[in-house]
This record gives sequence, structure tokens and C-alpha cells, in this order.
Amino acid sequence: MASTWADRDLSVIWHPCTQMKEHEQYPLLPIVKGEGVYLIDDQNNRYIDAISSWWVNLFGHGREEIREAIKHQVDQIEHVIFAGCSNIPAIELAEKLVSITPSALTRVFYADCGSAAVEVALKMSFQYWQNVGNANKKKFIALENGYHGETIGALSVGDVALYKETFGPLLFNTILAPSPDCYNREAGQSWRDYSLVQAEKMALLLEQNHHEVAAVILEPLVQCAGNMRMYHPVYLERVRQLCDEYQVHLIFDEIAVGFGRTGTMFACEQANVTPDFMCVSKGITGGFLPLAAVLTRDDIYQAFYDDYATLKGFLHSHSYTGNPIACAAGVATLDIFKNHDILGNNQKLIKKLANIAEQFKEHPNVGDVRQTGMILAIEMVKKNGEAFDWRERRGIRVYQHGLTQGALIRPLGNVIYFMPPYVINEQELELLAKIAFEGLEKAIAD
Ligand SMILES: Cc1ncc(COP(=O)(O)O)c(C=O)c1O
Repeated sequence: MASTWADRDLSVIWHPCTQMKEHEQYPLLPIVKGEGVYLIDDQNNRYIDAISSWWVNLFGHGREEIREAIKHQVDQIEHVIFAGCSNIPAIELAEKLVSITPSALTRVFYADCGSAAVEVALKMSFQYWQNVGNANKKKFIALENGYHGETIGALSVGDVALYKETFGPLLFNTILAPSPDCYNREAGQSWRDYSLVQAEKMALLLEQNHHEVAAVILEPLVQCAGNMRMYHPVYLERVRQLCDEYQVHLIFDEIAVGFGRTGTMFACEQANVTPDFMCVSKGITGGFLPLAAVLTRDDIYQAFYDDYATLKGFLHSHSYTGNPIACAAGVATLDIFKNHDILGNNQKLIKKLANIAEQFKEHPNVGDVRQTGMILAIEMVKKNGEAFDWRERRGIRVYQHGLTQGALIRPLGNVIYFMPPYVINEQELELLAKIAFEGLEKAIAD
């Protein structure tokens, strides 16, 4: 018999990124079902998922093609060791990933979450340099305000204090380059000009450190967990040139921005730049199952190719690597892009979001409204333009208001943002904007 919410002992669960004590005051949202853009709780209340459930549910909830693909695969083979054995969905997904990413990326290595993909890319770059006899290249350059996940390596190349500070003593040293984050540009300065100025700071760091740097890692176009800070594609172009000049790998972490989120299939397309390693995850299975992949070039792969694994092989594995069910979900997800002109249809939603942006711009407590494709972010500030102290936790008020009005909006600090499923319609976006606006009013009231 199906159990109900009331039967369950909630005290056994420890939720991520959560102060559990707060749930004595605010009960957890008891979600029992999903339908398109809606999450549905045990009382049949419906909430628009404005953030695609941590940015993974690209097509909302319960998308039929993905459900069917999973059901089909379950009846074939649910899992098989990915060393010594392979499986068709894993191969098919790899073929599809290779066909939609920049042409030089021809080799696919699977992992099972975004952080693990980042670990893979860092370790591959590091080992590549060992394998080709350049053992000095052991360090990484990352961006200030960047975020790449929360395992130890991923945290080491991240720079969001909230996640990183406590674990400082466990982390390896990373060289941090000033962020191209255009919120910090001078009045009147264009995104392009500011991004170029910041790229020259990267140039200096590379000039000084390239002998010992294996790779630069960054989130292309949007630093998502770092409060949805955005920058111009010209930065990627310039950093690519610099990495070529100084023989340093370039790792693009497209985990949050890949699969159409920035308006193009991958953010790197907007700069026409190919990284040496590209990490993808989140939307890869349309939000059904955990999966990640790292794509790289053939010549990098060849540097690991030798007579036996312990010689030069890449000794990194996860038990669930290449899981056939997750890969089948990935294949179905990419087929949806192919069969439905998702990117073309998103253009209308992107225009609508731009329209919504206008509604917030004149508000005296809005310091910035920024948009990259299907991401719209609104920066709440004091009337004098100063930032609110994050400890005041004003974003929580927006969140709480949203829940009373049928929307799951989960601000990052003082930043309200929309990262909706691609199946949202214009009326639903308008409703979200109305709820967010009311939430903003509540958040700034003292
Ligand atoms: C850019 C980026 N990289 C890596 C990660 C880590 O992914 P995961 O949470 O699946 O480990 C995230 C998660 O938000 C992310 O936004």
C-alpha cells in the first residue's frame, strides 16, 4: 500500500544546503508528484518550479519520452560494470554528445554528478601533463566567485565562501583570477569592455604562473551559484587565446549552463571557442537521474593510451559510471532537443523574460537586472544601492511568499532569479514575475 506523508518519520532525513533547525519553523514542502512546470504537494497544492529543481528539470516534471525510455531500459539491463563491459545507451549518448558539442571534442568519460565531473576534468588535466613529461604543471587557475561543486577538488577550485570557508584546511591551493562578473563594471562601461579588462588580469596570472599551471577552469558566461553573475563571451575568446599561448588547458564547466540554458546549446558556442575539457551534467537526463560527462580531445585521450592501465591509464572510476538507465534518459533528453526545436522555441521565452526584466529595472531596491538566455536575475539592494547584509536573509521572504502563491522561487542570497523549465508558457512567466515582485516588496520591508 502506498504510504502517505503523514506516516513518515521526517526526523531521519538530513537535507543538503539546509539548516535543519529552520524546519521546526518552516515545514518541508511535501512534494508527491510533478506535472510539467508544476510540483504538487500532498494537499494537491501546485507550485511553479521557477528554478527547474536546482536547474536540472529542463522540460519540467514527468516528461513522457524520458519516462518511457527509462521504462524500456529497465527491462533490458539496469546496470553493468563499466570496466571491461560497455552498454548501448552509454555509447549512443556519447555519440550524441560528440555530435552536438564543438567538433574537436571526441572522447567522452562518464561520471555521476557535476562535482565528480569536475574532479575528472581536473585529474585528467593534471595526469595529462605528467604523462607527457611536464610534471611541473600541478596547479589550477579558477575565477573569483566561481562554483564547481562541493567535493574536495571541486571546492578547491571554487570561490563561494559560504561553501568553502569551513573546509579551507582540507583544500588544495588554487590561483584565483579576478572575475569578469559585469555587476562590478564602472557606470557606463559595456559588458564587453569590462570583460576584456578582466581578461587582461588573467593574462598577467598566466604569464607569471603558466609553467606550473595545468588548467584554467571556469563557468562560461554565468557564475550561477555565485549569485547569477554574468559576463560577455569575449572573455572566453581571450582566455582561449591565452591558454593556447601559454600551453595551459581550458576547462569549461557547462554543468549549469549547458543544454540550452544560455540560449545556445552550450555557452561556449557564443564565443565560438572549444575548451580542452567540457563538463556537463544537471540537465543531461532532463532531471530524471544523476549523470555527468567530461568531453575532451583525441590528442588528450592519446596521452593516456598505452599497453596497460597502470602505465598511463586514467585510474578514476565510480561504481555507477555509464549507468544504462541514466544514459537512456540522456539519449531521450537529447532526442527531445532534436525533435522539438527547443532552442528555437526558447527564443520566445527569452524575449518574454527580457520583457519581465523591464518591470523590475525601475524599482528603487533593484540594483541590477541581468539576463543571459533563459536565466533572469534581479539583485535586491538597499535604496542607496548598497548590498543587504546576507545574514538578514531577505531572500527567504521571497521564497516564503512564493510558496503561499504557488511558486517555488529560491533566491541566492539577495538575488531573485528565474531559471524555469523550457516548457513554461508566457502566462506562467507573467505569474512568476508578479509573485516575485510582491516577494521583493516583502523582502525589503523592515
Ligand atoms: C557550475 C556548476 N558546477 C558544478 C556543480 C556541481 O554539480 P553537482 O551538484 O551535481 O555535484 C554545480 C551545481 O550547482 C554547478 O552549478
